[in-house]
Amino acid sequence: MAHRVQVYILGGSGYGGGELLRLLSLHPQVESVRAVSRKHVGEPFWKTHPNLCRVVDGAFEAEPDWGAFAEAEHPVMFSAMPHFELAQQLAALEQVWAKYGLTERLTLIDLSGDFRLDSAEVFERAYGKPHPYPRALGSFVYGLPEWQKEKIKGAKRIASPGCFATAIQLALLPLAGLKNLGFIAVSAATGSSGSGATPGETTHHPTRANDFRAYKVLSHQHEAEITRLLDAEKTSGYSLAFVPHSAPLVRGIFATVQLHPPAALALNTQALKKLYEEFYRDAPFVRLVEDTPRVAAVVGSNFCDIAVHEKYGNVVIMAALDNLVKGMAGQAVQNMSIAQGFEKTEGLSAAGIYPG
Ligand SMILES: NC(=O)c1ccc[n+]([C@@H]2O[C@H](COP(=O)([O-])OP(=O)(O)OC[C@H]3O[C@@H](n4cnc5c(N)ncnc54)[C@H](OP(=O)(O)O)[C@@H]3O)[C@@H](O)[C@H]2O)c1
Repeated sequence: MAHRVQVYILGGSGYGGGELLRLLSLHPQVESVRAVSRKHVGEPFWKTHPNLCRVVDGAFEAEPDWGAFAEAEHPVMFSAMPHFELAQQLAALEQVWAKYGLTERLTLIDLSGDFRLDSAEVFERAYGKPHPYPRALGSFVYGLPEWQKEKIKGAKRIASPGCFATAIQLALLPLAGLKNLGFIAVSAATGSSGSGATPGETTHHPTRANDFRAYKVLSHQHEAEITRLLDAEKTSGYSLAFVPHSAPLVRGIFATVQLHPPAALALNTQALKKLYEEFYRDAPFVRLVEDTPRVAAVVGSNFCDIAVHEKYGNVVIMAALDNLVKGMAGQAVQNMSIAQGFEKTEGLSAAGIYPG
């Protein structure tokens, strides 16, 4: 019988926090979940996350009850705070964990971009500001289970990938390591929940609902995550251009990757299908589909659907996922399960809702 974990969520009132509360309530190895919010202290979770009414009990706390958490046999902490927050708080948190004897036992899973990159220079180029705690860079395992599941097993610090990065990396992963891949054009659209729960100019419904536009053209921070994976796999002779789009959706990422690999690789549609099927044979949340993936088929689920095509040597790979699930909270829960040695699909195998 596998052990059970005791969970705290930092940033529990955001979209990531809400999805973590929902998904962890379905996980048989989760004994308890508590959550922190600065703005909703004392309020029941369901006041902020109405879908959790009568499903998840509990109220937001101003800060973790460290004394009680220190009693936990298998403590797990998710950080679902905005970029830079965990990095700013980590040195102080490490002191608290040392005081309460949590340092060796705690599993920390971060949903933000703070620890996905190992280099302070690359981080500053991607995020436009110096890293607040560069000493801790490199101490987190990058949590893309389809890439490096073995490293996630037993890991105490995991940086869950970004939502765009997850879709694009899963589209490219079977091709990683190939030589002379050439120009890789990536176009990917996201729904408004990708920007979090706080309304902003780019997420406000009237400015988005009937619009479709690009943003952060060739300068999105997730590009650094994608190229790091390709470089780590020794992919050569490639150049990647990523254009993100804002789509009139609430949830969902749809990524289209196009490239013209060398003819010698013989990547026709049939060869691509075989390559992707074999590569993802043991990946329970990647589904190969015909024609096109659909956002509506993955919303609410931890699945990433992928389709591959080739004509005249032009290769197209498309991937769709729910940015709040496989692109964030679901993947973080998947990482928790792998790190703790649980069945990797536990709590996550439900289908999405259709129509969405
Ligand atoms: N949305 C996505 O699709 C997506 C996908 C992948 C990764 N991510 C990343 O995951 C993280 C969470 O995203 P989200 O969409 O859930 O964001 P969100 O909806 O804006 O939620 C952020 C949470 O952090 C808390 N918070 C804000 N500032 C804080 C501070 N200074 N100290 C402590 N808590 C603070 C907020 O709660 P209170 O104000 O109540 O404390 C809120 O609960 C972000 O780093 C984001 O980049 C998001």
